[in-house]
Amino acid sequence: VLMSPSSVFSVSVRVSVLLLALLLSGSVCAELKVLVRLDNGQISAETLESDSERDIISVELRHTDGTLTTFLADFKRHVKILRVLVLGEPERGQTQYQGLCFISRLEHGEIIPSEAMVRLRQKNPHVVRTAEEKRGLERMSMNMAVNLTLSWHLSAHIRSMCRDAQDFIYTREQDVKYWLEKGVEGSIFKAFPQNGESATLPRCSATADPWQPCSCSYTVRLEWYPCMLKYCRGHGPSPYKCGIKSCSKAYRFDFHTPRKQQCMWDEE
Ligand SMILES: *[C@@H]1O[C@H](CO)[C@@H](O)[C@H](O)[C@H]1NC(C)=O
Repeated sequence: VLMSPSSVFSVSVRVSVLLLALLLSGSVCAELKVLVRLDNGQISAETLESDSERDIISVELRHTDGTLTTFLADFKRHVKILRVLVLGEPERGQTQYQGLCFISRLEHGEIIPSEAMVRLRQKNPHVVRTAEEKRGLERMSMNMAVNLTLSWHLSAHIRSMCRDAQDFIYTREQDVKYWLEKGVEGSIFKAFPQNGESATLPRCSATADPWQPCSCSYTVRLEWYPCMLKYCRGHGPSPYKCGIKSCSKAYRFDFHTPRKQQCMWDEE
């Protein structure tokens, strides 16, 4: 039985509202720029890059306050990297910007595969997009440091992504355990804080002295990313990939800083 014209119509409308055209080209790299609406109602441009050969996807967004957020999924190594470059206030003795790098395990199905991402095209680049599913805030306690020089043992992308974060490259003990089981070199990781500092530092927001070590937090939202493939029914016997579902997701990272000065955004 053929599909009725009305169901064909509804399917095609549903698909064209979103992006996705399935190009059967052999391209391995792609760049997609989408306009996204931020939490504060403002609009920003997001760049999604993918490379199916290196098996990576990156998502970059500049926020209205100048903060640059870059997410990179390294599927080969089961690693995701979230880098944030926060603009500083030099007139207050802060550096031009401060880099933070948060590395954690990339779970299966968090984001669509890179070979699907390289085929993603949008019909109307002027549409301002909002994620279909708003995923909840995930709190991550970043209690280990990653050595930048040795980081290639974990993922070749940490070196370039986290160069500007220097001493602020963090990960979690539970993820380290997983990577060690996979055979990753252990000397990359260090428990943090070092030299016996107490694990219960005061919160930076409750610390007045800019030179005090404290517990800092940073919340970042990935505003829009393709988190799932959608399947449609055509004339053939089995459903085919015809689109994506978009998600947004927020992460809150808690980590130690040697000085409150390096947690300048945490003031409430
Ligand atoms: C990182 O590892 C290198 C090479 O082993 C070492 O020389 C360096 O001191 C380490 N850096 C830190 C911050 O531990």
